[in-house]
Amino acid sequence: MATESPATRRVQVAEHPRLLKLKEMFNSKFGSIPKFYVRAPGRVNIIGEHIDYCGYSVLPMAVEQDVLIAVEPVKTYTLQLANTNPLYPDFSTSANNIQIDKTKPLWHNYFLCGVKGIQEHFGLSNLTGMNCLVDGNIPPSSGLSSSSALVCCAGLVTLTVLGRNLSKVELAEICAKSERYIGTEGGGMDQSISFLAEEGTAKLIEFSPLRATDVKLPSGAVFVIANSCVEMNKAATSHFNIRVMECRLAAKLLAKYKSLQWDKVLRLEEVQAKLGISLEEMLLVTEDALHPEPYNPEEICRCLGISLEELRTQILSPNTQEVLIFKLYQRAKHVYSEAARVLQFKKICEEAPEDMVQLLGELMNQSHMSCRDMYECSCPELDQLVDICRKFGAQGSRLTGAGWGGCTVSIVPADKLPSFLANVHKAYYQRSDGSLAPEKQSLFATKPGGGALVFLEA
Ligand code: GLA
Repeated sequence: MATESPATRRVQVAEHPRLLKLKEMFNSKFGSIPKFYVRAPGRVNIIGEHIDYCGYSVLPMAVEQDVLIAVEPVKTYTLQLANTNPLYPDFSTSANNIQIDKTKPLWHNYFLCGVKGIQEHFGLSNLTGMNCLVDGNIPPSSGLSSSSALVCCAGLVTLTVLGRNLSKVELAEICAKSERYIGTEGGGMDQSISFLAEEGTAKLIEFSPLRATDVKLPSGAVFVIANSCVEMNKAATSHFNIRVMECRLAAKLLAKYKSLQWDKVLRLEEVQAKLGISLEEMLLVTEDALHPEPYNPEEICRCLGISLEELRTQILSPNTQEVLIFKLYQRAKHVYSEAARVLQFKKICEEAPEDMVQLLGELMNQSHMSCRDMYECSCPELDQLVDICRKFGAQGSRLTGAGWGGCTVSIVPADKLPSFLANVHKAYYQRSDGSLAPEKQSLFATKPGGGALVFLEA
């Protein structure tokens, strides 16, 4: 429900080994006992890649892996952060002067995004301080949304410390907006599923207004996540923002071609909505209006009747102003076709035909092809992993998340799962050259998990 807030659960900490360990570590770090705990899950996107920021619906589910934070509010106006992973150093700052450094995506900056989002929402200049110990088990830079889980968790921590209330939808919107302080122009998928997920069901997430609808996945199949072990941090490079800008420019050129008021248009979905036509028709409009050869900034300026200066300062993001090549045709084709695949996927799940696993698999394969060839957000390792997964029994396999590394998701008939896992492990992870770090190797079946929660010690 749109107005529902994240749940609070009373738990016996002693009965939950991870909570208990966190409580003990918190005590040795800060010399006190946490007042409460918050968890926010990562996610796997089943289908609908790179279309949320274009205004289109996506179909993710939460995974069981999450960010868990132990919290103690303090009266000092200081925010003290520590992480159970020694790779992430301690950090402390005044709660009243939060600065987020866009130049380096350091872990604590994601936490600060969540704090700042809540602080700004309530217009608070004064925030109480807190001691926080963070424990995450979502593999980082792997397309499973470890960073958004941290932003969402920090947002819910701050809300709880303030003793205020917000709905899951409000929290998701605030956190999606505030994660942009890191510098990436992401859509709202990751934050939405982190708050709106429910155990046992994937969700169709729709935007403007944000809402989530259950999508029942086939009972005869299992979704398997496999990490390519190529790390991709979308805030550390401009790949991600370049795609967002290419989609923005494609939307403007399409709008201009159709004599719409192009300067107000930011998303490809707005063009479709204004024209009132189907996604299939939008694909035809794209073919008429745009050419497959890449555009340079001069041509874009000529098409829109603007100066290079206007293009750079009024349309492009700070880290894409020097880009010289924009592939507008390919990006728009991906977005409109992927948006259609999401709707087909949902329809098949609802109608549950006998060959549904095969049909869903085909859509996932088409999605991967489009990501690889039209959106160019795959990499050789992901392509290889997808091929291996299909070879050993997946009906469909595709990259998931932002891409350029990270994980694949595959749909595997339940009876083939044991042999699938064994064979993929042998073919991809047991490399003779030993080039894959064992601690990053992950291959696991996953089920739709629940959303963000607050835990109080009973
Ligand atoms: C990242 C972004 C999401 C979405 C995906 C790609 O995870 O945070 O908003 O755009 O990439 O589908």
